[in-house]
Amino acid sequence: MCGIVGYVGGRSAQDVVIDGLRRLEYRGYDSAGVALVHEGSVEGRKKAGKLANLEKAISEDPLPVSTIGLGHTRWATHGAPNDVNAHPHRGYGGRVAVVHNGIIENFDDLRARLEEEGHQMVSETDTEIVAHLLELQVDSGEDLTTAMQRVCRRLEGAFTLVAIDGQDPDRVVAARRNSPLVVGLGEGENFLGSDVAAFIEFTREALELGQDQVVTITREGVQVSTFDGRPAEGRAYHVDWDLSAAEKDGHDWFMRKEIFEQPRAVADSLLGRRTRSGALQLDEMRLSDQELRDIDKIIIIAAGTSFYAGLVAKYAIEHWCRVPVEVELSSEFRYRDPILDYSTLVVAISQSGETADTLQAIRHARTQRSKVLAICNTNGSTIPRESDAVIYTHAGPEIGVASTKGFLTQLVACYLLALYLAQVKGTRYGDEITQVLGQLEAMPDHISEVLAKADQVYDLAREHVGSRSVLFLGRHAGYPVALEGALKLKELAYLHAEGFAAGELKHGPIALVEQGLPVLCVVPPRGRDQLHDKMISGIQEVRARGARTICLAEEGDTSIEPYADVLLTLPRVPVLLQPLVAVVPLQLFACELATAMGHDVDQPRNLAKSVTVE
Ligand code: F6R
Repeated sequence: MCGIVGYVGGRSAQDVVIDGLRRLEYRGYDSAGVALVHEGSVEGRKKAGKLANLEKAISEDPLPVSTIGLGHTRWATHGAPNDVNAHPHRGYGGRVAVVHNGIIENFDDLRARLEEEGHQMVSETDTEIVAHLLELQVDSGEDLTTAMQRVCRRLEGAFTLVAIDGQDPDRVVAARRNSPLVVGLGEGENFLGSDVAAFIEFTREALELGQDQVVTITREGVQVSTFDGRPAEGRAYHVDWDLSAAEKDGHDWFMRKEIFEQPRAVADSLLGRRTRSGALQLDEMRLSDQELRDIDKIIIIAAGTSFYAGLVAKYAIEHWCRVPVEVELSSEFRYRDPILDYSTLVVAISQSGETADTLQAIRHARTQRSKVLAICNTNGSTIPRESDAVIYTHAGPEIGVASTKGFLTQLVACYLLALYLAQVKGTRYGDEITQVLGQLEAMPDHISEVLAKADQVYDLAREHVGSRSVLFLGRHAGYPVALEGALKLKELAYLHAEGFAAGELKHGPIALVEQGLPVLCVVPPRGRDQLHDKMISGIQEVRARGARTICLAEEGDTSIEPYADVLLTLPRVPVLLQPLVAVVPLQLFACELATAMGHDVDQPRNLAKSVTVE
């Protein structure tokens, strides 16, 4: 996610901001920028690429000396990662500069209204409209704090905003809704950061802000208010983390931090997907409804964890849209001479957008006249660039090599695609689609419920140090979850781990079962009785042969108790959405077991985050 720094005090704001941005580099970014208040106006520089590009631009065209300013490292969401879309963004007269993290859901409406009034936007971002709206307020005589309160009341979505006014050399104003922002408290100076790493070098006293609050920092102090302008208070605390822990939000690994970010990542990936009337919209979908109606086959191509997201998508798309779906490993796809034409939609799932196997596969599909839709987390990467349509996930940068929040947000994008196709093809009624969307919107809370029970999973994981092999069983949408659980354990703990469809056990794998073998079983919700009962039979079979059964089942499912040596409960959710909660304990299990075994969880041996060779 984007990095944000704000500063007012007695030091060089340029130095403080650029140092802060450097400490936020770990968050990942594709452009960077800085803006300062100087003699009644705002001066800024911004550049695509790494901070070094920005520093070079500043050395070629130096900024004036200033003690108040802000900066940003951008992870592109709305618009390509280029100089123009880089933050800060300015208002129509260049008086206000704004940086932003998050997604403004009603950006289209606001932009259209501004354009009707004659405003011209230069970027493709949702941020620029905020700069225009703020500037309208300050030009009409409001101070920047009041302007921010007024503008925030009109914004929908999740955002952190930080702004400066060229005609106000004393204050930096920020706001937050469902997006991170912390204040650093200094002596004669104050700081803003997307996390404490931004200012940890200067102060360890911090103020946490609540939801829907505006904060104004000056050299003298800090004032917090609600969006309505009522006074409010933040929570002061002392930061005792070192820089490395601060970057990880106090966690030991980026991976663990990313697992805990999943409720937020899932919520962000659902933002802005509904029209005013409640219908589903996918605004990066550049295929016409007629093209989508003509599709009579879908082939999903992906690698590793993304492939398992594709397997879940098959269940959802076939059920909701009644279109046949094949799921292929991208490394195998073009070598089997697949049958493709204009009525086949190829869906490429890739967190990085750079996986060479998947890239080559989509190139092949396009030579066969198939349309390609990418599901990707990295704006501007090669796979979405070479595709006909894109659904971006909004996980934010994933730093841990093993994918976690990338996977959950891919699942969300797959569900959205399935529902969208159902809407266009008319295979589901509108109210059914609305109902599933409502269930999806409830998932961040359910994921948080699972995370709240992490300690139980950690205890279990530590008991398994020394295990030589672990099996995972699932059925239906729980089968890809079993595969993903096994992959996480292989990658992180370097253990032999296998995932099986529970019904396949008797066809061979059951021979692996011996006394004490841990078998993690993903039990389908009870709504699908046949599936649920068949899963229980599978669990009985392995238990009868000495396996230690660790069952993940929905709360209140007492039927599983006699067969579970260990029972981990999951929230009650629809069967097709269960992967979103069921995979989380498996991620925690692998992370903790690998930690207990002394492995480097963020950089497992032999693995790379982005596999750019075939
Ligand atoms: C596993 C993992 C990999 C990736 C795979 C595809 O934790 O991260 O299996 O899922 O290399 O990568 P993307 O999604 O970037 O194409």
